Amino acid sequence: MRPSLPALLLLLAFCRQDMHDQPRYTPLEPSAFFADGRSARPAVEGAVPRGALRQDPVFHTGRRGGQHAQQIPLPVTRRLLARGQERFNIYCAPCHDRTGSGLGMIVRRGFRRPPSFHIERLRRASAGHFFDVITNGFGAMPDYAQQVAPRERWAIVAYVRALQLSQHAPVTALSQQARARLPEPGATPAAPSGPALPGEFQPGAGARPSP
Ligand code: HEC
Repeated sequence: MRPSLPALLLLLAFCRQDMHDQPRYTPLEPSAFFADGRSARPAVEGAVPRGALRQDPVFHTGRRGGQHAQQIPLPVTRRLLARGQERFNIYCAPCHDRTGSGLGMIVRRGFRRPPSFHIERLRRASAGHFFDVITNGFGAMPDYAQQVAPRERWAIVAYVRALQLSQHAPVTALSQQARARLPEPGATPAAPSGPALPGEFQPGAGARPSP
């Protein structure tokens, strides 16, 4: 004998499991159970969210044993440099300008002029010093710890190093191809022409067109 349809429906109704109706609190819902009236429990003091354990002091502070780290503590890849260029142009260029000479738009409108990154003292400064300046600010310069995460700060430091190299590199460090494009000594420097060489910095590459 086949079961009738109403009997089947009755059976289904009994099978229903109310998982979606289980007792639970929605975010910020009050609770009569806890003394402070809140359903969400505050994190135990000293709790570290997953993935946020600061195990590497050099990476997070730019210092090793109180001293500024000399080197960037992660591999400097093309990708890291590209990210650094992008972040630099957003967060630093408004004052330091895109070449790092210190004549950004805010400075041209009257803000204190920062030193050029191409002076001897800053060419010799350690990677950790730059990281420290971004993290804690420096004199009239505010800090960028909130806006720029540690990894991005190192990316910016790597890019500042590339900027410094761009203004102070021995000719022997250039490829044959790049050297052939240099003007003769004593000639008036011409605007660069021809397609960019592989790896050559292209102003504006990757930047959004201005409105
Ligand atoms: C609002 C403008 C402004 C912005 C944005 C800015 N800076 Fe500066 N920066 C300054 C000024 C001004 C000084 C000089 C401060 C002084 O000597 O009082 C300075 C100084 C520095 C110095 C030199 C410290 C020294 O040893 O003399 C470094 C390095 C530096 N900034 C890096 C950066 C980087 C990297 C960024 C981007 C994350 C950045 N700055 C963003 C204004 C700015």
